[in-house]
Amino acid sequence: MDNDLVKLYKRMLNELQEKKESIKRDYWRLGYHLMPPIGWINDPNGMCEFNGVYHVYYQYSPFEAEGGLKFWGHYSSKDFINWTEHEIALYPDQPFDCHGVFSGTTFIEGDTAEIFYTGMVKRQGYDDFTVKGMEQNTVLVTTRDGINFSEKKLLMKNEDYPANMSWHVRDPKVWKEDDTYYMVLGARDIAGQGCVLVYKSNDKENWENINIVRGEDEFSYMWECPDYFKLDNTKILITCPQGVERSEELPNVHQCGYFSVEGDITTAEYQLSEFRTLDRGFDFYAPQTFEDSKGRRILVGWVSLSDCEFGNPTIEKGWQHCLSIPRELRVNEGKIVQIPIKELEMLRKDKVELIIKDNKIENLYGDKFELELNLEGTPQELDITLRKDVHLIYHKDNGIFTLKIGECGYGRKERIVRLDSLSNIRIFSDTSSLEIFLNDGEEVFTTRIYPDKEDNLIEIKGQELKGSGVKYILNNMNYN
Ligand code: FRU
Repeated sequence: MDNDLVKLYKRMLNELQEKKESIKRDYWRLGYHLMPPIGWINDPNGMCEFNGVYHVYYQYSPFEAEGGLKFWGHYSSKDFINWTEHEIALYPDQPFDCHGVFSGTTFIEGDTAEIFYTGMVKRQGYDDFTVKGMEQNTVLVTTRDGINFSEKKLLMKNEDYPANMSWHVRDPKVWKEDDTYYMVLGARDIAGQGCVLVYKSNDKENWENINIVRGEDEFSYMWECPDYFKLDNTKILITCPQGVERSEELPNVHQCGYFSVEGDITTAEYQLSEFRTLDRGFDFYAPQTFEDSKGRRILVGWVSLSDCEFGNPTIEKGWQHCLSIPRELRVNEGKIVQIPIKELEMLRKDKVELIIKDNKIENLYGDKFELELNLEGTPQELDITLRKDVHLIYHKDNGIFTLKIGECGYGRKERIVRLDSLSNIRIFSDTSSLEIFLNDGEEVFTTRIYPDKEDNLIEIKGQELKGSGVKYILNNMNYN
């Protein structure tokens, strides 16, 4: 039964239909990326495959394109291409989550999916929420179909977290090993250092803190969105540290990356590798992973990040941001490799074979397209032009690969990675996004761009440039 607050939110949502229709006509609406039906999207949440259906929940502010009160929006699909847009899954309707249903995870056992999330409450009487004043409660809600939910149960309050934690403790991720359940939570301690809290439980309701995982001193003031899994015999801890000093390696305002782990974070015996970024572009944050029934570890991220200095002109049209294409992860010598999932091949049409002749390929067009170039040897120079003022440039002499964006970047200008060699480039271009995979996914750049529809010429040129490839125009995903 809906409580009064949910009834009120549903009435307010009903009034948004016309606006939702107008967003469908926006050219920058993405063809094959999940985006908010209206308003704002941030983190993917609770991603899982449950009874043969993939569920992607997400941080959703339907009433404000610039973000605000967070709900869990919901899409589901059997194949990542044909999607159902569901009604809102979780509303901020309880005293322990009334200011936001924040990020969380789904854990499936038997015929039940258990969702653990952070219930956000801003207490009155505080104006600086750095250390105190916000409740970040760990909440459990269950479902047997991914659509209808049980009553919510408050599992942990701020008072239950370790005494040296600030009130920033959020974003649970749960897994099971042998007969024990584990949870990680992202946190900021009272001294202003980011960390991950590790918990264990025998029944998924009573949780005991068993470890606090930290990096080097002063690396960051808060670690958001932790995720921990084993892949290809390597343990990986993904997290999003905030407030790291910006550098060539970590140029964004907040970071999104991972440590490979020696030992195990559920014990005192663990060692973190250096922190490695997951994405070299302007817009990538708060990813989540899950393992599907085919045994694939699939990652989806938020194509943006908070506090960033770049513009997004879709705000005026009533919406903002999107999620990345799903990427299958592998680990090679401790490093994550990202490969667009195979299902995306179903979007392909209008195949064009590419052969580099006289150091160039001309007469290519596309706004929504996939392009793959396999190079014979590392080229001396490479310059790919897309969408009029986007350039992908590589100079063998200094080994720098650059993503360079002009006006359509709305403040996004240049991001680089150093590469000893360049053997392969795979580009996924949508109306207003680019995802560029280098050397079979060893490096990735994700960014938003906002070009005109007419700006669809693709040019490839260089020096000592040899190889071949293929380009497809991509269809839109379907929604019902
Ligand atoms: C990451 C994040 C999470 C939080 C959510 C709120 O982008 O800040 O830490 O749970 O977004 O929307």
